[in-house]
Amino acid sequence: MLIAHISDLHARPKGALAYGVSETNLYAEHAVHSLLRLDPAPDCVLITGDLTDCGLDEEYDVVAGLLARLPCPVYAVPGNHDRREPFRRAFAQQAYLPEAGPLNFAVSCGDVRIIGLDSLVAGQSHGALEPDTISFLERSLAAEPNAPALVMLHHPPFDTGIAHMDRTRLLTGADELKRIVSANPQVHRILCGHVHRSIQQMFGGTLCQIAPSVGHQVMLDLRDDGPSCFVLEPAGFLLHRFAHGEFVTHLSAVERAPGPFPFILPDDYPGHRSAA
Ligand SMILES: [Fe+2]
Ligand SMILES: [Fe+2]
Repeated sequence: MLIAHISDLHARPKGALAYGVSETNLYAEHAVHSLLRLDPAPDCVLITGDLTDCGLDEEYDVVAGLLARLPCPVYAVPGNHDRREPFRRAFAQQAYLPEAGPLNFAVSCGDVRIIGLDSLVAGQSHGALEPDTISFLERSLAAEPNAPALVMLHHPPFDTGIAHMDRTRLLTGADELKRIVSANPQVHRILCGHVHRSIQQMFGGTLCQIAPSVGHQVMLDLRDDGPSCFVLEPAGFLLHRFAHGEFVTHLSAVERAPGPFPFILPDDYPGHRSAA
């Protein structure tokens, strides 16, 4: 079982750049190509929010067109840059999303339960889990207590040390999330986005992982007064492999790198045991 996890596409209308610099549509296309090259292929793809930059229908058209190239199911939660109703409209043909209310869902991918939580607060950058969403999580976990589960939401529930991002993390519902996850050891991961970097912390007794963006990355700046900036570091995504009842997670670069090169040592390789 292989679950690919991409985040923060920030698609723009065709021809437009994010913040005048970031070619997010091109980067998202590269990410889809990268997913299509995977061998073995993923069984499903998760997206932890910010599919679009401004929640515009034209932006969702771009995303929906790209994701349609993937032969496996795709499950997405909204981020603060998304808008709930255009998001719902864009993926209306995907049966996993509810027709009204928060965009919460619970689906199965093989033996794994995937629970998506809507942390979007309309018009705000920070995240919140409303009481309906908290009770949805509790009900979903109680329904299949023995199934290994992944919980996904856009806003991370912990401070990363990147101050300007921490101010817009999950500000409401983090304590309830911790309580519920602590009481449900079948939760193997909490998967987030929003921070545009690969970051991990233990949370409620499980591993909480923030995926990098497939586009631009937030600058690594741990000063308390660090400015809100992004950089065009190599983009990436996470691959969660489930085998023998456990998950192991790999970080993969989106772009192709030189290689592969076989580990061949010629006999005259300095330091090699068989060298004269
Ligand atoms: Fe984002
Ligand atoms: Fe975000």
